[in-house]
Amino acid sequence: MCGIVGALSKGPVAELLVDALKRLEYRGYDSAGVATLENGRLERRRAQGKLRNLEELLKSEPLLGNTGIGHTRWATHGKPSEINAHPHMTDDVSVVHNGIIENFHELKAELLAEGAPFTSDTDTEVIAHLVTRELRAGKDPVTAVFHILNRLQGAFALAMIFQGYENLMIVARQGSPLAVGYGDGEMFVGSDAIALAPFTDKIAYLEDGDWAVLTREGVAIRDRMGAGVERPVSQSQTGGLVVDKGNYRHFMAKEIHEQPEVVGHTLAHYLDLANSQVNLPALPVDFAQVSRLSLSACGTAFYACLVAKYWFERWAKLPVDIDIASEFRYRETAMQPGGVALFVSQSGETADTLASLRYCRQQNQQVLSIVNVQESSIARESNAVLPTLCGPEIGVASTKAFTCQLTVLACLAIAAGKARGVIGPEREAELVKALVEVPRHMAAILNDEHAYEALVHSLSKARDVLYLGRGSSFPIALEGALKLKEISYIHAEGYAAGELKHGPIALIDEEVPVIVIAPRDELFDKTASNMQEVAARDGKIILVSDADPAATGCAIQTALSVPSVHPFVTPLIYAVPVQLIAYHTAAFMGTDVDQPRNLAKSVTVE
Ligand code: G6P
Repeated sequence: MCGIVGALSKGPVAELLVDALKRLEYRGYDSAGVATLENGRLERRRAQGKLRNLEELLKSEPLLGNTGIGHTRWATHGKPSEINAHPHMTDDVSVVHNGIIENFHELKAELLAEGAPFTSDTDTEVIAHLVTRELRAGKDPVTAVFHILNRLQGAFALAMIFQGYENLMIVARQGSPLAVGYGDGEMFVGSDAIALAPFTDKIAYLEDGDWAVLTREGVAIRDRMGAGVERPVSQSQTGGLVVDKGNYRHFMAKEIHEQPEVVGHTLAHYLDLANSQVNLPALPVDFAQVSRLSLSACGTAFYACLVAKYWFERWAKLPVDIDIASEFRYRETAMQPGGVALFVSQSGETADTLASLRYCRQQNQQVLSIVNVQESSIARESNAVLPTLCGPEIGVASTKAFTCQLTVLACLAIAAGKARGVIGPEREAELVKALVEVPRHMAAILNDEHAYEALVHSLSKARDVLYLGRGSSFPIALEGALKLKEISYIHAEGYAAGELKHGPIALIDEEVPVIVIAPRDELFDKTASNMQEVAARDGKIILVSDADPAATGCAIQTALSVPSVHPFVTPLIYAVPVQLIAYHTAAFMGTDVDQPRNLAKSVTVE
């Protein structure tokens, strides 16, 4: 999942392209590059590492040219290095690519046999050589590209410019997102509308199999067979978005602190506050008639689904199947026609989640999605979309998107419970009231932030950290462990507290911090017995709870006090402490909190 941009502009483009790439750094950041046409000749600059390295390079070795393409990379084939950085090129064509060319070994062998001079380890470079072969055989660029596209297998988005063609860019989309931006006598392309926001708010999204020929005068979009197609041009809403850290040291800190506001905003969208009721948009689903709900997602969004399983089963008596999207997509699950499948994704572009969605559509399921990016592929391919209203999330480790996903899922679970006759008006009012109080309780935890900062000295020295939770706190234990390992690089595992005896207890000694998520609910006493088992083995317990630590009956090293809330909303509340633990530990350790090594925000490859 790399980010790509391209511009056919009236003036020099290199700086504009770098500005657009800054908005795409969430897609990858292990190298970056730009190529432009200078007097008809292709020139490029590439640099390993963050975009600022490319910016520095462009200061000392500027690129002229009004036509150009740019790229920020997340390595799939070939390690992060300058030679593997995009654009890849020959004398005739320069190409940027997001995705994976699955048959590149076979193509590369064929091209090498003909003497093509490869200079990188990437799959992308085969595209440059394939196009070059066609051009040198006398084809014009449009015919050359059309000819080679059907040789490429896999998921990709591409943009290419050509030696000697100042007013031409060819782009293609097969599985990875690509948007065309319309300017006034200028044309642009980008991986998403946010990248294009500095240039234009008139956007058309290419569909799978589309490829397009851009000039400054406009764009001709064609389908897989080469026939002209029209794609609707819409007004993007992303233009006014401010993407800066404000007074925070990291985007992640800012996004953690935005949660009371954005969760409140999302609640206001899905609740009728005056009448203490849920107020969902009309959905093409009657939950009273649904016999099973299937949930699928990746990463943090998957843990949101895992919480939702507890909610749908408990509060709507609706059986739930749940799977990680990368597993679901290949399981060939038998699905009853007319069933409902729900997908959760911040970006709306995660390749495995999108593939699972498409599988469900083929199985005649009604497809609902909860996404943050409303113009994304998952949103566009769903029968109905329930947006999270958290604004752009820039930190790679998801925080506010997670709690807003939980917010929407909680509202949906109540709506399903009502439709199924499990929740009556009184219960609905009780659960809605609990939700409405969430932003206030989140703010109280954030006001207590110093308690989390105080933990970092010991946590940052740990080699392994264990997170335990029961019931709907189990997914929060998993999310806490994921957050910590993502940004601090400390090994962490989340476990269902009851599972402790079946393995992880072997790890416990005085060196291993055990973070226990234990709201004072009906399961508290069970979790307390597990804490006693940890304490008996000298484990260092960090208790996150609204209970008096003495109620655990064992030695607690640190107690982090959390407001008492209705058991329904504990996952929303306890998400914040685990975020703060991870954030402060990583910030103290000095890791790259917003862009942790090897990770990317939007995973558009398998
Ligand atoms: C990546 C991100 C995670 C995110 C996951 C799923 O791994 O780093 O923060 O949870 O993808 O992304 P999605 O956009 O589908 O929610």
